[in-house]
Amino acid sequence: MKIGVFDSGVGGLTVLAELRKALPEASFVYFGDTANVPYGTKSAEKIESLCRSAAQRISKMGIDALVVACNTASSLALGAIQEELGALPVFGVVEPGVGAALQIQVEGPILVLATRATVRSHAYLYRFQERMKELGRDSPALLELACPLLVPLIEEGWIDHSVLHLTLNEYLGAYAARFSSGIAVLGCTHFPWIQAAVEKALPGWVVVNSAQTVAQEVSLKLVSAHLPDERSGEVEWFFSDAPAVPDFARQWIEDTKRR
Ligand code: DGL
Repeated sequence: MKIGVFDSGVGGLTVLAELRKALPEASFVYFGDTANVPYGTKSAEKIESLCRSAAQRISKMGIDALVVACNTASSLALGAIQEELGALPVFGVVEPGVGAALQIQVEGPILVLATRATVRSHAYLYRFQERMKELGRDSPALLELACPLLVPLIEEGWIDHSVLHLTLNEYLGAYAARFSSGIAVLGCTHFPWIQAAVEKALPGWVVVNSAQTVAQEVSLKLVSAHLPDERSGEVEWFFSDAPAVPDFARQWIEDTKRR
């Protein structure tokens, strides 16, 4: 089985890494829409139209299922992508992100760090509220924080840079000062690249990266993905603007080719 993985840029690589571990028999196609990154600062209409165009391109790549490894696209355009792909199974990342956070029991609020568009959509907030209701659990404080400067810094390759640490302190300082613990959900697939820096900015907090949960869900639901593919483990790479791929991601891609 060939599985497509789609993101605006290099964020989806964090999900692809876990998918390759959970589904060693599958082969993959990665599409990063680097010509249009970031998605998260754009309007809902623009994001939907970019996702429809990307889905049309991806539909010609011979895949059997698609993982939308982008929270912004999952929050605002999952239905549109599914429409473009017809009967093909399409997986988003919001639901598994909520599931991963709900497995953790820690005093304090749940803080979703995401792009501006994801926060505006309140996709996480609504899904958390629904799940809490279904589980009959008292809801902790649910907070959403747009961090629009982080994606450009990550795409620039500044994943352990003084500017990144300063920016995180600006965004998170008030939360770190107010709460000694809590759950920070990385509600953007770019953010696991800077997980260590987020943990440093939020001492005492648990930082949730949902990539593993996404991979588990896909692995459970796509039973046929476990049948050996003649190109098992291989990844085909497509970027709409190749020179925009930062060095750390390029290195990761090269290492993946050798594995
Ligand atoms: N990685 C994406 C996300 O999970 C999108 C980042 C962006 O393009 O703004 O939201």
